[in-house]
Amino acid sequence: MTTPVLSMANVTSGYRGIPAIRDISFEVLPGEIVAILGANGAGKSTTLLTLAGVLTPISGAVEALGAPVAGGKPHLVSRRGVCLVPDNRAVLSGLTVRENLAVALSRATARKSTEVALDLFPPLRKKLDIRAGLLSGGEQQMLAVGRALSREAKAILIDEMSMGLAPVVAQSLAPPVRRAATELGVGVLLVEQHTDLALDIADRAIVLSHGEIRLAGSAAELGKRRDLLEASYLGEVDPAAIGE
Ligand SMILES: Nc1ncnc2c1ncn2[C@@H]1O[C@H](COP(=O)(O)OP(=O)(O)OP(=O)(O)O)[C@@H](O)[C@H]1O
Ligand SMILES: [Mg+2]
Repeated sequence: MTTPVLSMANVTSGYRGIPAIRDISFEVLPGEIVAILGANGAGKSTTLLTLAGVLTPISGAVEALGAPVAGGKPHLVSRRGVCLVPDNRAVLSGLTVRENLAVALSRATARKSTEVALDLFPPLRKKLDIRAGLLSGGEQQMLAVGRALSREAKAILIDEMSMGLAPVVAQSLAPPVRRAATELGVGVLLVEQHTDLALDIADRAIVLSHGEIRLAGSAAELGKRRDLLEASYLGEVDPAAIGE
């Protein structure tokens, strides 16, 4: 059996003991893209932060690459090859693109991983010596995602991949992420407000509403059931009534 790169079993998590997500169970396999959909405040970022070891769950089991995730120790999770791209993108704005791609790597590793990032996102090649803070929003997102994918990531969690980006720019991010999953076997957990874009590149999707999973299924299936999808965003679907 394949070991999931990320998994949650009956996880309740939140802030200062108050749950923001309840009884969440799902997994992401190597090479798979799972999209998390849902309205503002549904619990999408909380799910990512819990998987990345930033938040400590109130109950339930969180695992990355088959080993438990200790809450409050995100550096240990990242050392295993689990990369979080937060919704503020977190590029080092005072450093150039080249420096961003090389941070904390030896010279030889930096060269290799820079090539991986540039191969996935060719538009960055022309910007190598530009400070990241001067890049456009789309280029910064390419850098953030490319940087994560270039570091032999086993799993990547991308929060709001296309936030603030023009649709055509957002769409240009999708194929490299799909390639990283298919060709490099990276497991991807993607939070994306653009439902069409998310369902286009994902293998499976989960809809959260008020901190609970309301709908889960293959992206192809969910794409055909827009009525169900919209109702689930509003929390109007009874999860017990839906088979995967
Ligand atoms: N730092 C925090 N402290 C307390 N409560 C928080 C904190 N961050 C989020 N919450 C609460 O947890 C719930 C889930 O928030 P979360 O950020 O996970 O939602 P989201 O689905 O990512 O929403 P959005 O689409 O707006 O990013 C919300 O009710 C929110 O108010
Ligand atoms: Mg969020």
